[in-house]
Amino acid sequence: MSSEDAFISSLKPAVELFIKHVEMGSRIRIVTHNDADGLASGGILSVVAHRKGAAFRTSSEKKLDEKLVRSLAEENPSLIVFSDFGSGYTDLIAENLSQDVIILDHHLPAGHEADNLVHVNPMLHGIDGAREIAASGICYLFAREVDEGNRDLSCLGLVGALGDQQDKGERKTLTGLNTLIEEDAVKDGFLEKHVGLIFYGYETRPLAKAIAYTTTPYIPGLSGEEGACLAFLREVGIPANEGDRLRSLADLTDEEKRTLFSALSSHMVSMGCDAGAVHQLIGTIYTFRLEEPSTSLRSGREHGSLLNACGRMEKPGVGLSICLGDRGEAMAEAQEILDLYRRKIGSSLGLVRENDMVEERDHIYVIRAGDTIDDTVIGVVSGILLNQGILKKKKPIISTAASEDDQMKVSARSTEELALRGLHMGLVMQKAAEAMGGGGGGHDVAAGAYVPIDKEEEFIARVNSLVPEHLKE
Ligand code: C5P
Repeated sequence: MSSEDAFISSLKPAVELFIKHVEMGSRIRIVTHNDADGLASGGILSVVAHRKGAAFRTSSEKKLDEKLVRSLAEENPSLIVFSDFGSGYTDLIAENLSQDVIILDHHLPAGHEADNLVHVNPMLHGIDGAREIAASGICYLFAREVDEGNRDLSCLGLVGALGDQQDKGERKTLTGLNTLIEEDAVKDGFLEKHVGLIFYGYETRPLAKAIAYTTTPYIPGLSGEEGACLAFLREVGIPANEGDRLRSLADLTDEEKRTLFSALSSHMVSMGCDAGAVHQLIGTIYTFRLEEPSTSLRSGREHGSLLNACGRMEKPGVGLSICLGDRGEAMAEAQEILDLYRRKIGSSLGLVRENDMVEERDHIYVIRAGDTIDDTVIGVVSGILLNQGILKKKKPIISTAASEDDQMKVSARSTEELALRGLHMGLVMQKAAEAMGGGGGGHDVAAGAYVPIDKEEEFIARVNSLVPEHLKE
């Protein structure tokens, strides 16, 4: 049996347990992470539960910790389904929860299995959970196994992968099991793909806005700066409008697209970005055909950004409503949240630059933000800084920010190259956080932890010494 088949078979016990509880009329509790992948996962599971007529409640949470499992134990539902977290916390779950539990996750597993736990994770079958499938993809395959009628959730199944930046294949394609979901979406007419300049709103958004709204890649001086984008277009001789009508990227001639690409590349290099960052300008564009062309939901990547914004600006309920199909009130609110989120990222990056906040240690870069940058966006900011290639040494970046309950939030970002050399930041975070009485985990290139705030320096020193132990020369 291939590892893919073995993984898909591993969904069966989870589906059977879920259906058994639906048929028993049990109270089902869906608990999901609050980023794009978590919200899309929770959305899929909620739609599945709703369609089955189950009695369920869904919440999305910033972290899975003792406080959360204790409150779930008090609620005492008959079945708890965790999505996009759980795999790194099986011991905590088993120690505190005695009812049936399903975990649908793609993060690094840690701890022991238990009799009341049905644990579904591609990594348990040798499949790369950081690149080949996200939690929303697992939830989609789960949904399809419950009922073929849930195939209309395929785009939502891909949103988590795009939000988690799993588009690591050639020309920024999704790979592995994600392509299985993609095939469903294309076959059913929900998804269209083409290769081009990666800006959000390719078909419909005015050119300057499309460039300004794009956060991956993040272009210094242009991302978030519509006025600067307009001036830039003027400078390179690309008219932003045709008569009264504002032009979109799709309106440009091939010659104009080439001119734009080359001007953007030169601009990025002049701002200190490396070739890898410039390369990110072109890739596969995922268009969700049933979404309104003028909205942020039409482009798969922007859809992911919008959900990430809802989660990280502490409005996960708005994101969940969108996943459940609300295109009215929730959509208007989400659009405002996304604008604020973009501004927050822009101002946080400005703060890091103006105050020269990136410190270089022997084996890592460090940002100690304290309470100057929100713990919810510190990870995004770190990812952008590393992906721009402005930090020249091949080192991961570890950022810390003050969080609630005297805890410090840590976000770690690394590169594909370092991952190939054996560096797994999820493992480093897990080991270093546990040694400080905290908890951590995640993927090889994106990971995180929570650690008592007074252990900040000790934690950073520990990470700095763990990194070279993982790296193969
Ligand atoms: O919060 P941030 O975006 O930096 O997290 C990066 C990755 O690490 C996410 O996939 C998150 O789920 C994971 N993580 C984890 N355990 C933690 C903190 C973060 O698995 N304690």
